[in-house]
Amino acid sequence: MDDLLEHAVETATHEHATDAPELRGSSFDYLTQPGTDLAAKAQAFHAWAQTRVSHGVFPYAKRLGGRPGATAELTLLDGQRHAGLNFSSQEYLSLARHPLVCAAAQQAMDRFGVHSAGSTALAGNVEEAAALEAELGELLRTPEVLLFPTGWAAGFGAIKGLVRETDHIVIDQLAHNCLHEGARAATPNIHLHRHLDVDHVERLLKRVRQRDPRNGILVVTEGCFSMDADSPDLRRLQLLAREHGALLMVDVAHDLGCLGPGGTGQLGLQGMLGQVDLVMGSFSKTFASNGGFVASHDPAIKEYLRFYAAPNTFSNALSPVQVAIVRACLAIVRSGEGQQRRDRLMQAIVGLRGALTEQGVTVLGHPSPIVPVMLGPDALARVACREMSQAGLLANVVEYPAVSLNSARLRMQVMADHTPALCQTAARIVADSLQRARVLTGEFH
Ligand SMILES: Cc1ncc(COP(=O)(O)O)c(C=O)c1O
Repeated sequence: MDDLLEHAVETATHEHATDAPELRGSSFDYLTQPGTDLAAKAQAFHAWAQTRVSHGVFPYAKRLGGRPGATAELTLLDGQRHAGLNFSSQEYLSLARHPLVCAAAQQAMDRFGVHSAGSTALAGNVEEAAALEAELGELLRTPEVLLFPTGWAAGFGAIKGLVRETDHIVIDQLAHNCLHEGARAATPNIHLHRHLDVDHVERLLKRVRQRDPRNGILVVTEGCFSMDADSPDLRRLQLLAREHGALLMVDVAHDLGCLGPGGTGQLGLQGMLGQVDLVMGSFSKTFASNGGFVASHDPAIKEYLRFYAAPNTFSNALSPVQVAIVRACLAIVRSGEGQQRRDRLMQAIVGLRGALTEQGVTVLGHPSPIVPVMLGPDALARVACREMSQAGLLANVVEYPAVSLNSARLRMQVMADHTPALCQTAARIVADSLQRARVLTGEFH
C-alpha cells in the first residue's frame, strides 16, 4: 500500500460516508418539482450542486486555461486549478492548433468577417459552405448535405423536421440526448429498443407496420455510442428499415473522420458507405469546430429540412470561420496525414485500453476515441473523479441519469497527440484514484 493510500485508510471515517449530502442524489431529483415558484426549483438544484462544489465532488462546468492539448489546465467552479493529462476534450485528431486549420480560419475572417448574419434559409450561407457540403457528400458518398449550427441542432432538427405526430420513431434507448429530444418533440409514437438489439428493432417494426400501414417510421441509432463506445449492425438495420417502409438515420458524431478507412467511420468499417438513408453528424469532435450536418441521397430532403428543421431555418448559419475550419480539417482527414493521425489515435486508444485492463479496471465497448471506464456507484465515482483530478488526470465523469443508476463511468476521450507513455501514466492514476475512492467511501475492506 502506498503512502497516499495508507493516509486515505486512516482518514476514511472522517472523509465521506456514502450518505453524505455531497454524495447523495442526482440532477434527476430536481428535474420535476412541485410548486408555483419556478426560481425556487432552480435554487433547490443550485443548493445541492453547491454542496457538491464545496466538497470538491462537482466535476462539471470546468474552464479550460488554454488549448485542448494532451495536457491542459482546468479551473473548477470553486476556483481550484488542476493541471494534468487531458482526457476530457473532444479533439480526436488533435487539429485545434494545426497551422493549416488556423491559417484557413484567418483567411476566412479576412475575407468574410466573423458573422454569418443570417440563417441558411435566407442569406446566411457563404459560398464556402456549399463547397463544404459537397466535400462532405463526397466523403460520405451521400451527396445531399445540409449544414446546421451545432451537431445537437442537426440531430434534433432532422427528426423534428421530418417526423409528424402521426408518424413513428424506433430509437435505441441509449441514443444521444439530441435524438431523444427530437423524437419527443416530433411524436408521441416513440418505440424504444434495447441497446444495439436489432432483433428487438425487427419485432418493433413488424408490430408498428401491422398496426399502422399508413404513416412513416424513422429508425434512429448511432455509429459509435457516446457513453458505451459500441456500434450497431448498420447493414441489418438498413435492410430492416427498407423492408418495413422506414428510413434509417445514423448519428456519426464520434466516428466520422477519426475511425475507418479514409476517416469514413463505422459506415466505412461496416461496408455501408453511401448506403444509409440519412447520416447526421457533428463537427465538434474530430473537426475542431462547432456545427453539424444531415446528409441524404435526396435533394428534396435537404431542401425540406432547410425549411422545416427549425434549428436550421430559425438559427443563424455556421459562421464563415467555422466553415473554413471544418473544410481544412476535412481536407486533412482525407489526406495521408489524416491516416497518420488516425493511426496515432488508434495506437493511443489500444494502449490506454490495454493499460487500464492491466491495472484491473473495467473498460467498456470497442476501440474508439471514447474509452468508458466503469466506476460503479455515483458516490464512488464522484470521489474517484476528484482524486484523479488532484492527481493530474483530467477526464469527465458521467453519472445518473446520463447512464443507468450505479453504473457511473469515467469517459476518457483520446486524441492523436496522446503518447503511449502518457496513456500508461493515465491508467495508473485511474486505478490508484479508484482504489483511494473505495477507501474514502468505505467500500474498501
Ligand atoms: C452522439 C452525439 N450526437 C450529437 C452531439 C451534439 O454535437 P454538438 O456538440 O456538435 O452539438 C453529441 C455531442 O455531445 C454526441 O455525442
